[in-house]
Amino acid sequence: MLLDPRPGSLTGPSYAQGLTYAQGRRVRSLRTAVTVVVAEVAMTMSPGPLPGVGRTALGVACIRAMESRRADRLFDDPYAQAFVEAGRVLFPELHGSRADSQGREPSGIGALFYPHAVVRTRFYDEFLLSAAAAGCGQVVLLAAGLDARAFRLSWPKGVRVFELDLPEVLRFKQRVLDEQTATPACERTTLAVDLREPWAEDLLAAGFQPSAATVWLAEGLLVYLSYDEASGMLATASELSAPGTQLSFEHASQDGNGLLARARAMPGAGRLTAMWKGGLGGRAPHWLADHGWQCHIQSRSDLAARYGRPLDEPSSGGFLTAKRT
Ligand SMILES: C[S@@+](CC[C@H](N)C(=O)[O-])C[C@H]1O[C@@H](n2cnc3c(N)ncnc32)[C@H](O)[C@@H]1O
Repeated sequence: MLLDPRPGSLTGPSYAQGLTYAQGRRVRSLRTAVTVVVAEVAMTMSPGPLPGVGRTALGVACIRAMESRRADRLFDDPYAQAFVEAGRVLFPELHGSRADSQGREPSGIGALFYPHAVVRTRFYDEFLLSAAAAGCGQVVLLAAGLDARAFRLSWPKGVRVFELDLPEVLRFKQRVLDEQTATPACERTTLAVDLREPWAEDLLAAGFQPSAATVWLAEGLLVYLSYDEASGMLATASELSAPGTQLSFEHASQDGNGLLARARAMPGAGRLTAMWKGGLGGRAPHWLADHGWQCHIQSRSDLAARYGRPLDEPSSGGFLTAKRT
């Protein structure tokens, strides 16, 4: 589906409800095209101002910046390019690299992840807005990274968005957003936490209401956690989930042809894949059922076809969405 870039003229099913077209805040000063090579470099560089796993957020921002430049974009993120540019300052070795060139196609592991990441972003945009429209007045982004949804989506009045991530990532994010004089389109709260540790008290202290319906999103996170870490974090979310609450995260294909298996087989991907601990893996649907969630699996291939970006992959991976009744 092609998106008409004019405000108010987006035609997709959930987009009609509220995806703004950059709220007139498109960042025009940062024009340099950056290829997904940046994503690869950001994901694999030695320790610096962002922890290794935090730098993966820069990789996703790079993909969102590229997608936002396309005429047939599935979403528009007007801040993604600013994050990428700020990342280039942190990592000066990117200057003069292929990352400076205009309009190159993604390559390597970036090419593998690009179609997945854009379908994922669009799907979660729709999922979150639909949950908010259905009465989930609290949105919790577990490992928000450089996600700018609090700024770029048109939230129903009164929605509160909580962004949780590691302190270094949130500091970097806020600095860039301040430079862009970004204004949230909701009530936004950031919480610097390590999601492997207890974090419920921090969320409650920040004003989260456990008796109110919430939508939780763990986008691009669980693979970086072990089974026990992912289970612990989701158990905390489950304990804080009132009836009507919704939840979503990726469902990895277990057939050996999935995205993660193919990434592991790629030369040069080792430093990224070494950070993967597997999350709940194929046990996620059972885990959710055991913890009081009604779970549904949404195929990435089906969504991609619906969005007009059919995937050239045999994988059965996709997204889990779950509801608390
Ligand atoms: C691939 S990025 C995804 C970010 C964002 N959800 C998106 O899709 O753009 C993974 C994110 O998980 C965060 N993360 C990984 N482990 C974490 C932990 N233990 N506690 C908090 N955040 C964590 C990283 O800092 C990073 O922002």
